[in-house]
Parts: sequence; C-alpha cells; structure tokens
Amino acid sequence: MRVSPDTTSPAVPIIIDCDPGHDDMVAIMTAFAADDLDLRGITTVAGNQTGEKTFLNARRILSLIGAHDIPLARGCDVPLVRPLRVAEDIHGDSGLDGADLPAPRERVSPLHAVDLIADLVSSSTEPITLVPTGPLTNIALFLRRYPELIDRIASVVLMGGAVAESNVTPAAEFNIYVDPEAADIVFRSGLSLTMVGLDATNKAMLDPDDIARLTASDGQVSCIVGKLLAFFAGTYEHVFGIAGAPLHDALAVAVAAAPDIVTTRDLHVAIETKGDHTVGRTVADVYGVTGQTPNASVALDVDVDRFRTLMFDVFSQLDTICR
Ligand code: BDR
Ligand code: CA
Repeated sequence: MRVSPDTTSPAVPIIIDCDPGHDDMVAIMTAFAADDLDLRGITTVAGNQTGEKTFLNARRILSLIGAHDIPLARGCDVPLVRPLRVAEDIHGDSGLDGADLPAPRERVSPLHAVDLIADLVSSSTEPITLVPTGPLTNIALFLRRYPELIDRIASVVLMGGAVAESNVTPAAEFNIYVDPEAADIVFRSGLSLTMVGLDATNKAMLDPDDIARLTASDGQVSCIVGKLLAFFAGTYEHVFGIAGAPLHDALAVAVAAAPDIVTTRDLHVAIETKGDHTVGRTVADVYGVTGQTPNASVALDVDVDRFRTLMFDVFSQLDTICR
C-alpha cells in the first residue's frame, strides 16, 4: 500500500525517532506498511514515558508487526537540560496501556540512538529524512555530535508544536515542552523542517466508531490497535473532553510520504525556552512581523478523510502480513 497516489515516486528513506506512546505506535506501523516509505531505522527517546519504557514498547510493537530486521536503538533518558516530564495521564503507566502486547523483540542495536542515526545516515547513498515523533533530544544531540552529517539529512518532518493550539500547558505542545532547548537547536539548524503540529494533528482523529470497528475486527493487529486506541481515547476524553484518538505522530509519517495530505504555510518559528508561562511555545510569525526568513513549513490543516482511509489501509495491510 502507498500513502501517496503518485505511484511513480521512489520510496522515501526515513528514520523514526519516537517515544511510544499510542500514536507513535501507529506512526511506526504506517512507516512499516507503506511502500512509498523506506524505514531504515527506529530510535527511541524518553518522553511519553521513561527511556526504559519507550524502548521496551518499541520492541513490543516491532514483535507485533513482525518487523524483525529494522535497526532499533535506545537514546536519551532525559532532556538536554531539564528533568523529564512524562505523559502518564495520556499513555498510562507503561506508556502503551490498553492491551497485552507480544514479548519484546530481542534483536536491538548496541549503539546509542544518536550513533545509530549517524551510521544509517553516513552509509546511505541518498539523503535521509528524519521523522521525530517525541521530544527532540536525540535529534539535537545528533546535530551537535555529527555536524559533518547535517547535509546528508534531506529534511526533518517532526510532530510537535502548534500555531494556535496547545495541550500540556496553555502555551505548549508536549514534545516541544519536554525538551525546548533541543527543539531550539533543531529549529535553528537551517535544515529543511516540516512542523506537523496540533493545528493539523488534532484533526487526524479516529472516532469512537472507528475504534469500535478495529476492536471488533478479526485481524490480529487491528484488534490490538483497537484496544490500545480505546484506552488512548479514554484518556483524551478524561483530560481534554475530546471524543476519539488523535493520531498525531502517524500524520507526521504520512506527511513524509505525501506532503499534500496537509495544507502548509512557510513561517518563521522560534522556540520559547525562558518564559514563566510560555516555555515550549512554538512562536510562529503568522503575519511576518519579525521580518525573519521562514524556517519551517507548518502544517495547518489535514485532509481528514484521506488520513482515516490511510489508517484503515495500514491496519488491514498489517493484518494480512501478520496472519
Ligand atoms: C505528542 O505528545 C505525545 O503524547 C504524543 O505521542 C505526540 O507525539 C502530541 O502532543
Ligand atoms: Ca510521540
């Protein structure tokens, strides 16, 4: 299956850096199932839960979908300068509550995430797109540790931030809030950036009927995903009063394959690292008042029907593979 209707475009080589997390799980599934993405590696970071738990969850997800060969490495356990803040209220104690997952995949890279990214990038004949779906700690550290590889990065398509929304404080989105110093490094890097933030991802939603349909499915993957998303939708209802499961991170992966699934504007985005009330805010210059050159293509809307269809295609593809 493909994300993009353009059947001639070659597969986009990507590395996902994630903190699974329910929507990170769907992001991994999308990248694994899509023929127009070439998933070269997965790295994990602390965010939704501790570094130990997000890494374990990634190993369990890879077992579930039979992804035995994709390199997987564990990265930073804490943000660059701040203590870790996790999202237990949203993703549960394990970081992936709601269903029993298979035993974790045994095979993992001995490298630190940052070094695995460097290996994959330097050994690739084509530039690689990074798709971070958690706090940007590993990515910032990679940019600092391996500056000579920066021009081997095609682009960064990240889930994080927002122009007009927030979720963890009245000002900030979770991934940017957890490690704003890392986000600041990434947004100042000069790399081609696509910011897939809450303005678009809050609409990239499976509703309660969609989730019930998954849970009732005969497909092994769909059924487990349904149970996990039922938990996730429950916490969203409890914390935000939102009915359904917004698959933030899966949208970032979809954008890496098919940028036209979202509507974007080129904007200058600065990261607030100091404000008493606003730390972690992605300060987007919507009216060009700063005169600064745009540093990000910012997703403002999403083709919701296309995204929902894509999600069901992903799950049914994985049901077929994992039968
Ligand atoms: C982001 O925060 C996390 O809880 C999700 O996995 C997603 O990456 C949404 O703000
Ligand atoms: Ca995430």
